[in-house]
Amino acid sequence: MPQDRPTSLHTMGQQYGRRSWAEPWKIKMVEPLKTTTREQREAAATEAGYNTFLLRSADVYIDLLTDSGTSAMSDRQWAGMMLGDEAYAGSVNFYHLESAVQRFYGYKHIVPTHQGRGAEHLISQVMIEPGDHIPGNMYFTTTREHQEMAGGKFHDVIIDEAHDPQSLHPFKGNIDLAKLRALIDEVGADKIPYVSLAGTVNMAGGQPVSMANVKAIRALCEPLGIKVMLDATRMVENALFIQEREDGYADRSIAEILLEFCSYTDGAWMSAKKDNLVNIGGWLAVNDWDTFEELRNLVVVFEGLHTYGGMAGRDMEALAIGIEEAVKDEHVRSRVGQVRYLGELLTEWGVPIVQPIGGHAVFLDAKRFYPHLAQDLFPAQTLAAELYLDSGIRSMERGIVSAGRDPKTGDHKRPKLELTRLTIPRRVYTQAHMDVVAESVKACFDARESARGLRMVYEPKYLRFFQARFEPI
Ligand code: F0G
Repeated sequence: MPQDRPTSLHTMGQQYGRRSWAEPWKIKMVEPLKTTTREQREAAATEAGYNTFLLRSADVYIDLLTDSGTSAMSDRQWAGMMLGDEAYAGSVNFYHLESAVQRFYGYKHIVPTHQGRGAEHLISQVMIEPGDHIPGNMYFTTTREHQEMAGGKFHDVIIDEAHDPQSLHPFKGNIDLAKLRALIDEVGADKIPYVSLAGTVNMAGGQPVSMANVKAIRALCEPLGIKVMLDATRMVENALFIQEREDGYADRSIAEILLEFCSYTDGAWMSAKKDNLVNIGGWLAVNDWDTFEELRNLVVVFEGLHTYGGMAGRDMEALAIGIEEAVKDEHVRSRVGQVRYLGELLTEWGVPIVQPIGGHAVFLDAKRFYPHLAQDLFPAQTLAAELYLDSGIRSMERGIVSAGRDPKTGDHKRPKLELTRLTIPRRVYTQAHMDVVAESVKACFDARESARGLRMVYEPKYLRFFQARFEPI
């Protein structure tokens, strides 16, 4: 085991060699994978309207749609499932969950929810008044939807580098303080209930926020009465980037970095389906008692009683254990190391991806992959379809389809980033699977000139990317 930590940007692999991130576990149970023929995949893609969200997982070979709820649980977590206290109220498992969040994230008051968007809904309804403005470090689909449904307007105040897939800025998730100040001056601090800060930033390519940035945001906001609320969904991965890249943190553990980061924020919402290593679950946490009282009251309307919030007792137990496993340094290093392995391979082979390689996924840069396709032909959606047709590997569009329409003008929002996400589930696939993925991406890259794009033939009103249907051109 290497003792030293890497000193420069994403060079862990080079410094330690190919085995630097070897998994700190061995496999106890396996699930067979299914392969399909090209004809079967063509039929499945047609039935799914060329939208990877509409494929049946039985038709998928390696599933990189998302890292959400797709982790493998540990033997300890499965043992914890047997200790479910399925009481309607006051389950023992809730108190385990509460103390795990308090211990590892440092917040005072916890509200469980069925998953991240349940928490986003509650926090948006409690903190946002119609006409409010919510600055954040790039939008996330469900987060912004709930902020807008509560009557808020989201403003992207992330640094410009985040929108450039080739910028090597080490903290592309940072908020641009000048943009944040300009918004405060324009609309007034009393119209900004909180800054919506995500670590890491999913839509930017899994890019981190630095400790210096969160401290500066706090220093700016606190005197103005603006809260700092954290989307902690992948904050453990963010902590690894701080350990690797920020001065003064090389010798601090992931757990210490996580606690310090959270201490500069007033609360957090969590999709526990990611970092926390469970298949379903979420939570909300705040330090302010009055906010907590409102949240605890509202949770019973939408999720369930405040001691289960939509989760079974056994799920809360697995979550409490997952929180503790997730902050172990060797776990995070191996998890991000695997993502980086895939990204470095693709980079070596000349495939355009978002740099630096992020924490949870490799993002293919569909604009550079298919320079001949206009954004209205949905290049990232096309690439996801081509990759599925080639090998049965499932990825996700994160471009113009995900961005949706401007509620005022009705036109497409046209994000600068047009990406196809290869999202790596935690503790599920092996290095050989990563090789297969890279080979299939390369095959699509070699055939890139034949891609013609897609036409949208069905468009749902909310979060259209989930259920939209397409036809090849
Ligand atoms: N915040 C972030 C940063 C997310 O990535 C997600 C979900 C949520 C909130 C919502 O949480 O799904 O538990 O309701 N992201 C998934 C993904 C869907 O594939 O990236 P949820």
